Amino acid sequence: MDYRIGRFRVLAAVLAGMVSCAAAPAALAAPDDERGRSLVRLVRQDCGACHGMLLTGGLGPALSPDALRDRPREALVATVLGGRPGTPMPPWRGLLTEDEAGWIVDRLQAGFPER
Ligand code: HEC
Repeated sequence: MDYRIGRFRVLAAVLAGMVSCAAAPAALAAPDDERGRSLVRLVRQDCGACHGMLLTGGLGPALSPDALRDRPREALVATVLGGRPGTPMPPWRGLLTEDEAGWIVDRLQAGFPER
């Protein structure tokens, strides 16, 4: 993996989150197979840049089922969409709908698919 591309993606995601904060994403049903596969790639690559390629932690904490077991789902979804101000965790609102963030959190808590 080219680390510079990863950093650029992260920066682009942060910027996109900032500009699109005001635009409420349209609610979507569960993602179809193709969007599901691209969400899995996004989590492995973009979230993995901070949370580790195996999601076992890096700059950000582990996103493994063990680490997330006792966390309320809604709080995790809010963190994914809104980020954690004052930390490197960026907001993903604008790139992910609320349903997609919920779909990702459900899979992180269950054990994230390889691909
Ligand atoms: C630029 C680095 C970075 C990126 C990219 C990033 N995160 Fe984070 N994330 C963090 C940091 C740092 C924290 C811890 C924030 C804190 O100290 O509270 C965090 C926290 C979290 C938490 C809360 C974990 C807990 O135990 O409460 C979740 C869930 C999360 N991130 C999911 C994601 C997802 C899903 C993505 C991709 C869509 C992502 N993160 C991308 C840095 C990042």
